[in-house]
Amino acid sequence: MTQVKNIQDSLKPIVALCKRRGFIYPGSEIYGGFANTYSFGPYGAQLKKNIKDLWWQTFVQKRRDMVGLDGPILLHPKAWAASGHLEGFNDAMIDCKACKSRFRCDHLIEEELKQSADGLSLEEMTHLVHSKKVKCPKCGAQDFTNARNFNLMFSTHMSKTGSEGDVAYLRPETAQAIFLDFKNIIDTMRVRIPFGVAQIGKAFRNEITPGNFVFRVIEFEQMEIEYFIRGETWEKTFEDWLKSMHDWCKLIGLNKARIHEKEHPKEQLSHYSKRTVDIVYDFPFGTSELYGLAYRTDFDLSRHAEFSGQKIEYTDPETREKFVPHVIEPTFGVERTILALLCDAYDEQQLENGEMRTVLHLHPRVAPVKVGVFPLMKKDPLGPKAQAVFDMLQAHFTCEYDESGAIGKRYRRQDELGTPYCVTIDFDTIENDTVTLRDRDSMEQTRVAISELVATLSAKLI
Ligand code: GAP
Repeated sequence: MTQVKNIQDSLKPIVALCKRRGFIYPGSEIYGGFANTYSFGPYGAQLKKNIKDLWWQTFVQKRRDMVGLDGPILLHPKAWAASGHLEGFNDAMIDCKACKSRFRCDHLIEEELKQSADGLSLEEMTHLVHSKKVKCPKCGAQDFTNARNFNLMFSTHMSKTGSEGDVAYLRPETAQAIFLDFKNIIDTMRVRIPFGVAQIGKAFRNEITPGNFVFRVIEFEQMEIEYFIRGETWEKTFEDWLKSMHDWCKLIGLNKARIHEKEHPKEQLSHYSKRTVDIVYDFPFGTSELYGLAYRTDFDLSRHAEFSGQKIEYTDPETREKFVPHVIEPTFGVERTILALLCDAYDEQQLENGEMRTVLHLHPRVAPVKVGVFPLMKKDPLGPKAQAVFDMLQAHFTCEYDESGAIGKRYRRQDELGTPYCVTIDFDTIENDTVTLRDRDSMEQTRVAISELVATLSAKLI
């Protein structure tokens, strides 16, 4: 078989497969869609769950220095003043006066002038766009407003008055909930520095130009860790976490060759960070941030202490020394994980018989369905026998039963879902209690005794 399409050219086939096979649907489609929102369909929801479960197992359950948290989406509005988000969580936007389209100014400069806008002030960006007569990518006019700051936090109102004083913000990062509960955690759990708090949850950002499918959306999930340390150990802890992040990429089966590190230059660091390294991935639309690792110093805990008037300190149990811990923050986006996995996994192949197959080479650890179970024919005795095999397997693995259509079509369907193994029950099964086990990637078929099936699959699905 030969690979006929290199998916690195375009996202289109992936978007089409996600819709066709129930991974990801456009949001609110029956109302004509709602820009940059998506629904994870049955297979997408399972894929997402597998990623989050594996992350939680890896970074919380299997480690003695980590605990979990599930904090609220709505935090006290003062928390966002303390964290610096109210003042500093902005993107520069610019509007086309002719067609009223809005753009992120740095993206407009990068795309239209092919030069970096890193570190430029609002005035410098405005000057560039006006003096170089940048054309609006939507309508072609050369008539832009000045660039101005746009806060990315979504706001809502907490009570019926709807006045400014009632404003609350949907969290733009899960991290702050961890800082707000730091005191509760050290008071109620027997944690000792160094230790980390992990959280998985939704974050919301009013992105000016979202896009590239689920890469940049306005509502997404983060898997974040705030790892509390003594300030003087930050460099080593940073390196340890960088390695753990690469190990995670390997665990979920991402192609190492498409993963790189990108150090943030000093002038581009977020307001809270002394050092940030992004784990970037070669997406079809370019190499872009997948995950981030930041040294947030003691910025957040100190600011929450200042704004809340509460003492937020850790007491060393041996020396009784009191200090404000520093923080290393590894952060992982769930949607970007899914997109990178799909980009890696997607493949179109021409088979020896001339047929085409689309296949997702997802790692068995994350694949939404682990085993497809098919009776060669619906009727007795194959149907009931296949049902018995399905009942046995589904106690161990996520399985899918399929009895409709030609067997080749059923294999193709599971290939598109990324199902690593299929089991077919045929007339030989009735004779000798063996089944056909078909491997998704090699398409090789072997006979396996039903009594050996759970053990054989367990060994393959690690
Ligand atoms: N607490 C630190 C923080 O939020 P970030 O780099 O702004 O850092 C962390 O976001 C991760 O969240 C990113 O590495 C990315 O995976 C994901 N992410 C950020 N904005 C996103 C968006 N608009 N859509 C999808 N994922 C996003």
